[in-house]
Amino acid sequence: MAQPVSTFQVHTLTEAFAKAHAATLLGFSDDLAWDDWTTDNLLYPLPEKWRHSRYVAAPDGPPVAYAIISRKQDSLHLHHIVVKPDYRSGGAPSLGRLLVDDLVASARAAGCARVTLKVMAENPRAASFYLRYGFQEKPSGAAGVRAFEFSL
Ligand SMILES: CC(C)(COP(=O)(O)OP(=O)(O)OC[C@H]1O[C@@H](n2cnc3c(N)ncnc32)[C@H](O)[C@@H]1OP(=O)(O)O)[C@@H](O)C(=O)NCCC(=O)NCCS
Repeated sequence: MAQPVSTFQVHTLTEAFAKAHAATLLGFSDDLAWDDWTTDNLLYPLPEKWRHSRYVAAPDGPPVAYAIISRKQDSLHLHHIVVKPDYRSGGAPSLGRLLVDDLVASARAAGCARVTLKVMAENPRAASFYLRYGFQEKPSGAAGVRAFEFSL
């Protein structure tokens, strides 16, 4: 890792920033066979998406992680979170944890009751990251998909 995690900051991901940096952000998941996100997915309109989505960067540095988030009734829903490969499993606090801490704080500030997300069954490493964080697994109602929830 080029920089200590403590120098990284969480920023609001605006639509303009996502458009300008789409290739960089989508490139973070080039190594993930299950990830088929395109620019259309990245820019797809969702409730309160550009209020709650975030990216991480060092001061004056390029983005190294991002999270796509929207509002669903009394929840904030995490649609996608990707840390640039070199920065994954980066120690404490990790970039993934920085983003999820920010998400939980946003959900509290927005008066939400919970944070929700889904993980594909073929991605057990992400599931362990959320369980370690304190999410609880819930019935997903769909084959091949696991649902997780963090109550506030
Ligand atoms: C999941 C993710 C956001 C966590 O962020 P992070 O900064 O790496 O988080 P931490 O350092 O706290 O935890 C690392 C853990 O993330 C999980 N993880 C999931 N996919 C991983 C990957 N491809 N590479 C490394 N760690 C991964 C593992 O549980 C890992 O724990 P380990 O190091 O003991 O194996 C990040 O690893 C990532 O971007 N993974 C690939 C994309 C992904 O799976 N997104 C979630 C889709 S729902």
